[in-house]
Amino acid sequence: MPILKIARMGHPVLLREAEPVDDPTHPEIRRLIADMAETMQDASGIGLAAPQVHVPLRLFVWRGTAGVSVLVNPELEPLGEETESAWEGCLSIPGLRGCVTRPKRIRFRGLDAEGNPVSGEAEGLTARVMQHETDHLDGVLYPMRMEDLSLFGFTEELARAAGGTTR
Ligand code: NI
Repeated sequence: MPILKIARMGHPVLLREAEPVDDPTHPEIRRLIADMAETMQDASGIGLAAPQVHVPLRLFVWRGTAGVSVLVNPELEPLGEETESAWEGCLSIPGLRGCVTRPKRIRFRGLDAEGNPVSGEAEGLTARVMQHETDHLDGVLYPMRMEDLSLFGFTEELARAAGGTTR
């Protein structure tokens, strides 16, 4: 399976709204999901959305404690008012990190790779990854969510400044 080329910030595919997937079990979609999972692992990412590999469809892969999962046609809604700020990176913005404030808890809905409905609640890192990846499907990159651009920089410099405590 090929490693796919990852679009970097500035490429228009990252700024457009992606289209819903009709059938997650279609052979082309299955191949896309498999290739995206491999590309994410190869790049040491924890999430990868289809527009990042130049495919404007509404699906993403992500890596959690249970391994690599896929969510197709995701719909998210915040649960409660509580927000959390944390550092994020993006395979489309290599070498940089930024601090982003997002809802701490979410409810998610979508389809799995077999086309079955999945839903649940997530918080912390999982909720953050799902929000970051779903943003990609709406043409939103994490710097567009940042409130304080002084908390944006090169990973190496931030790690040096913080004594290696940023992730
Ligand atoms: Ni990203």
